[in-house]
Amino acid sequence: MSRPQSLRYQLLLRLALPLALIVCLDAALSYFVALHYADQAYDRWLLDSARSLAQQVKTKKDKVTFDLPPIAVEVFRWDDVDKTFFKVESTTSGFMAGDKALPSPDIAALEKERPYFSDVQIQGKPVRAVSVLTAPTTSAEDVLVSVAETLNKRRGMMGEILLAVLLPQVLLLLISGLHIWTGINRGLRPLRDLARAIARRSGRQLEPIADSGVPLEVRALTDTINALLQKLAGAMAAQQRFVENAAHQLRTPLAGLKIQAERALRANDRESLQPALTYIKSSADQVSHLSTQLLVLARSESVQQGPRHFKALDLTRIARDCCMEWVPKALERDMDLAFEAPEVAVSVAGNTTLLRELLGNLLDNAIRYGKLGGHIVVSVNSEPAACLKVEDDGPGISEQESSRVFERFYRIPGTPGKGCGLGLAIVHEIADLHGADVRISAAERPPGGTCVQVFFPELLAPL
Ligand SMILES: Nc1ncnc2c1ncn2[C@@H]1O[C@H](COP(=O)(O)OP(=O)(O)O)[C@@H](O)[C@H]1O
Ligand SMILES: [Mg+2]
Repeated sequence: MSRPQSLRYQLLLRLALPLALIVCLDAALSYFVALHYADQAYDRWLLDSARSLAQQVKTKKDKVTFDLPPIAVEVFRWDDVDKTFFKVESTTSGFMAGDKALPSPDIAALEKERPYFSDVQIQGKPVRAVSVLTAPTTSAEDVLVSVAETLNKRRGMMGEILLAVLLPQVLLLLISGLHIWTGINRGLRPLRDLARAIARRSGRQLEPIADSGVPLEVRALTDTINALLQKLAGAMAAQQRFVENAAHQLRTPLAGLKIQAERALRANDRESLQPALTYIKSSADQVSHLSTQLLVLARSESVQQGPRHFKALDLTRIARDCCMEWVPKALERDMDLAFEAPEVAVSVAGNTTLLRELLGNLLDNAIRYGKLGGHIVVSVNSEPAACLKVEDDGPGISEQESSRVFERFYRIPGTPGKGCGLGLAIVHEIADLHGADVRISAAERPPGGTCVQVFFPELLAPL
């Protein structure tokens, strides 16, 4: 069995993970945007330096010159974090001033006055450089002014930006995570409370769970549980009634048995013993019949399978065998028991023992309550679906009584004999198990009697 998944962790995963992802993405984006603008500011400073150097390029007698007093060079180079380099060179006469080590870009690829930024190396150290090609107006020569600086300031700034961006994001993530965690815990509290309330109940406390204060989403669960509790309470009450009825039914013949046994004990001769013994036998029969019926009911109630799990059976054969067994009983009441069925097998999904019990109860009723010397017809039909029918020519069952007779222990007032009122309840239970429908109507042939029909569901797969 797989371990149940924690709703709390699932919620946390689904809320916190995307949040963490968004925060990381946002941090990365902010970092690169900030870096871009900071880089641009440093590049602008580099370009300004190059342009101010370019202004020192003059033309004297058609020759370009570059004059920068040493103090100005010192001011230009002064920086306690980075090293600054410059180079001024003419396109025709070559190097004029500055650091020779600073590499020059390909002049052919440069446009005049348009800065060219590049990442190069001086003595193995990476530097950022900008070159501007300028042309003093009175000269035919072009002059290339390049300025470069090491990357210390830029790298330091990268670290600062990273810290400035990451710190608030991490804090945000922590605070949101905490908030989500407490939110989930608070959100799940009604479920925990519900579980505790149910766990505290005893097996007999079946009143509905109070749903005031229960959130809407949990209400569906409490409604379902309450509906189940209601069904359970109904079933328990029915069970209680059944036990009471059964005890009552057993008590009557047992009380009679006791009185008659005492009378038998007092009897002196065989003749006065006879009526007591006859009564004792009939009471014992009654108790035995009742206990058999109770057993059948209990057994059919405990069958958990539905019609899908039953085996396919031939209803004709079961009905014919059962009728044969009941012929002697019918003859005792001078009755004619006929059986009608098609030539072919009529398939139903079912349990043979239970189906025999069902037909046995219907035949028992027909023989018991049918007309003395009358007719009983048992028939099996296959069209449109399998159907079992038992008809007699007795007094019949009125429409008002036809649903009540299925209740446990119910007997129509004035019914002769000492039945216990469980026969049709058993028929109903077994039919239910087979997904079948039981209907009582007035018999047509002969008219006026009882006709009980059991309609079986259609077989999904043929035999
Ligand atoms: N074939 C029948 N003809 C007339 N009445 C019937 C017939 N079958 C059942 N009944 C009536 O239905 C009642 C319930 O039947 P059942 O549940 O078999 O209990 P029981 O036979 O033990 O009385 C019977 O008491 C009887 O009044
Ligand atoms: Mg009966």
